[in-house]
Amino acid sequence: MSSRGNFSSKLGFILAAAGSAVGLGNIWKFPFEVADGGGAAFVLIYLAFAFILCFPVMVTEIAIGRKTQKNPVGAYAALGFKNWKFLGLMGILSGVLILSFYNVVAGWAFGYFLEMVKGNFGIGQNFSQFTNDVINVGLYGLVFMAITAFIVSKGISGGIEKAAKFLMPSLVIMILLLTFYASSLPNAMKGISYYLIPEFSEVTPEVIYNALGQAFFSLSLGMGALITYGSYISRGDNIVSSAAYITLTDVGIAFLAGLMMFPFVAYLTDGTMEGFSGGPGLIFVTLPGVFESLGSTLGIVVGALFFLLLSFAALTSTVSLLEVPVTYVVDEFKASRKTSVWLIATLIFLLGIPSLVSNGYSELFTSFITYVGASSPASFMTFVEHVGSDTLLPLGGVLITIFAAYVWKKHNLIEELRVGNPNLEGTWKEKYIDFAVSYLCPILLTLVFIFTFLGRFFGVNFF
Ligand code: PHE
Repeated sequence: MSSRGNFSSKLGFILAAAGSAVGLGNIWKFPFEVADGGGAAFVLIYLAFAFILCFPVMVTEIAIGRKTQKNPVGAYAALGFKNWKFLGLMGILSGVLILSFYNVVAGWAFGYFLEMVKGNFGIGQNFSQFTNDVINVGLYGLVFMAITAFIVSKGISGGIEKAAKFLMPSLVIMILLLTFYASSLPNAMKGISYYLIPEFSEVTPEVIYNALGQAFFSLSLGMGALITYGSYISRGDNIVSSAAYITLTDVGIAFLAGLMMFPFVAYLTDGTMEGFSGGPGLIFVTLPGVFESLGSTLGIVVGALFFLLLSFAALTSTVSLLEVPVTYVVDEFKASRKTSVWLIATLIFLLGIPSLVSNGYSELFTSFITYVGASSPASFMTFVEHVGSDTLLPLGGVLITIFAAYVWKKHNLIEELRVGNPNLEGTWKEKYIDFAVSYLCPILLTLVFIFTFLGRFFGVNFF
């Protein structure tokens, strides 16, 4: 299998997979779901889901990849179940859709990095002007996709692993520096208590459902990204411990992102924490104002560091998203890696153009679709996100666990997990994975899928 390439070490694989997991989702989504969902109470629920529900799906994906040494489509066929190739194709479709809009946002982050370096803090007040300057943001998106493609074109150990070994430690250093700095700002403790004081009364079924969806997306599950990365690891590696490190890194970085973000907000609002909202608005509108108030030199350093951090986090994720269709084409059509990479990256960039212009520039794509029962239309970008990530990922997770437990059969899964980890046999971890993959994951993920599908597209309000 040397022609496909391999991760050169277990650490290399862990860094690359953790890189896939740690992304835009950790830095802007997680902290605000925490604040809206009852602070530390949400963190606990999230942690529980990451380990109880997501972790078994993660080991399953990695095991299928390593067993077959194939892309998600080829993997089901290699195990003898050609009828399940559709599941691999569905994963590839969702990866392509996610990358198409994710790259647009990554391009914004990268563009903001350049603006911060120039000291242009006013950009925050002109966010919609920025996103509607489609030539400019299109160029940032193009550069981001080109960097992603360049890394992927260099292969597994020479490209993805090498990049992760540089990007992930740099990311950790940057987030620690920013967290320490933010905690020294006036009112920092007010921000941290807002973030962390548990409010169990705020934990509604909806919050629980959000925690689950967020954990699943954040760990890059349900589309075969980890089948793909798993297909490049050695049979000597311990899948269970690798997956634990990947999960811990993802959860740890998300947690740190909150510790960094809330003191910034507290500083800006004089400790009142009023008048800000989560998501893109916070990152692209509010934070530049914080950086500006630090004075020009310090503001440039802190602002540039923040958006570089965001760009690095996004880059290791876009790399994994691109690798999935690339491995598929290289494995199944015997195409050269370089040609496949550049061709697929170009196609996905083009597919992202409607998302790029769907923030006001093009009326058609901005008010793209009105769902049943909705009062206002969703943009193309939101629509692609609803289909590609919110709906297809949980559905993929349901089907992957059903496949592993009942089609491939769980004794085969367990046997693969014992390779490189002989001590697993008979432990509670093994029994737990067996139980979760057979019952817990398919049932809970089916609920998430149904709630999301009917909730997003048909306005059914479950909560
Ligand atoms: N996990 C990434 C994030 O949190 C997104 C992602 C999803 C990447 C699926 C790859 C596959 O931003």
